[in-house]
Amino acid sequence: MTNGVITDAGFKPSGQIQFGVFFQGVNSGTIWKSEQSGSQTDFESFRRVAQTAERGLFAAFFLGEGLRLREHLGRPHELDVAGRPDAQTMLAALAAVTSKIGLVATQNTTYNDPADLAHRLSTLDLLSGGRAAWNIVTTDNAWTGANFRRGGYLDHADRYVHAEAFVRTAKRIWDAWDGSGSPSGGSWGRVRHEGQHYTIDVTPRLPRSAQYRPVLFQAGDSPEGRDFAARQSDVIFSAHPKLDDAVQFRKDLIARTAAAGRGPNELQVMPASEFILGATDTEAAEKKEWVRGLQIGPQQAIAYLEQFWGRELSEFDPDGPLPEIDPVVEETSETRGSGFHGAKARQLADQWRAEAKEKGQSIRQFVTSRTARIDSTFTGSYSSVADQLAEYARVGAVDGFNISPWLIPSGLDDIVNHLVPELQERGVYPTEYRGSTLREHLGLPVPSRPGGAGDLAIEAAAAVGSGR
Ligand SMILES: Cc1cc2nc3c(=O)[nH]c(=O)nc-3n(C[C@H](O)[C@H](O)[C@H](O)COP(=O)(O)O)c2cc1C
Repeated sequence: MTNGVITDAGFKPSGQIQFGVFFQGVNSGTIWKSEQSGSQTDFESFRRVAQTAERGLFAAFFLGEGLRLREHLGRPHELDVAGRPDAQTMLAALAAVTSKIGLVATQNTTYNDPADLAHRLSTLDLLSGGRAAWNIVTTDNAWTGANFRRGGYLDHADRYVHAEAFVRTAKRIWDAWDGSGSPSGGSWGRVRHEGQHYTIDVTPRLPRSAQYRPVLFQAGDSPEGRDFAARQSDVIFSAHPKLDDAVQFRKDLIARTAAAGRGPNELQVMPASEFILGATDTEAAEKKEWVRGLQIGPQQAIAYLEQFWGRELSEFDPDGPLPEIDPVVEETSETRGSGFHGAKARQLADQWRAEAKEKGQSIRQFVTSRTARIDSTFTGSYSSVADQLAEYARVGAVDGFNISPWLIPSGLDDIVNHLVPELQERGVYPTEYRGSTLREHLGLPVPSRPGGAGDLAIEAAAAVGSGR
């Protein structure tokens, strides 16, 4: 490192920051109950955010995926806003009202099938002129499986073995078209796979797009998830936005990509982030108070605690102290989707009560401080935040940020109107789109064709080789 610049294994910082926007929909970080809030399902919200992002030269518009509503005590969870349109359908509609921005669909490997998903993503890629991407997720809970005929299956280790076989198969399907407008030569680009989870024999049904195939993002943070990304994806959607953490994360990924036989710059990183901006630092700090107050209202504060207490807490005052009543510790009463295990509830409640008491916090204040996207929030004046981001670009900590707006649909306005010009002045943000495809915006190389068509790939039970 020189002056903090990351140089591990020959890594070269691009010196640039890209932005993506993550339209989250179902979550408690977006304010859905203010006068300025739009709808989480109307096309108008999506159109406005995507077009604003495109005006700000954002590389990508992301949609997450939640295959089942979180539940608490048998009801949809109070912390979530129900209603999340299907990502690929929504992105297809957005492709028609945008012309440059990348369109990223979060799609699950655990509950999809490779031939079908590869075809649907190819469709989005073709109709958008080479702007599609797939954010590969595996889903970290079994209760989502109740929506599917397969049920909740695949433990953590197996999820990535399955995901890897899935993605390699999808890539082989995309590779199997010979580029001349018909499936490749004698073998008809036939792709066969025999494995633990599925056996398929498929020919691609669509030609390649302007960017060859969809760009691959990955969101998953475990060592297995990182190794999977290092072998298979183009960009990692990370949960490490704080500078020191981002630097460590980048170094970790450089080592993992090297172990996978790829170059240090072949895997890009875009952490999830939130921006609360103002003309001055003071104005931004005041705005932050307002944002936090709306993100966690009285009802949400109680609902947040209920998921850990495993019982109704509606009789408690959100502006009073944490409940003295003990949590119900049976695992069956935990909120589905919180990932929290009931057995730890009493210990955690004691710890939280002590912490809140020491800080003199009410339920609402405690929950606000716990749920604030503390590590991922950039708060300050346009120029001070631009300075911070320029430092990320200088050292090469990230390739960009995936921004979750706290207000829909206007949440990107000040970023595009004020932060982007400040970044452009500092020479760290694009002043125009580099091309017409997402791959071009991100400066990613067109994949080289491995010629896997026609081969029968037999998936080993656990070993998944490196590279493609
Ligand atoms: C920044 C980020 C965003 C994610 N977005 C989604 C999502 O929209 N839908 C989903 O099912 N999982 C999402 N995930 C979860 C991952 O797919 C994965 O299931 C989870 O992180 C567990 O994998 P891991 O053990 O490798 O971390 C996201 C994860 C991260 C880090």
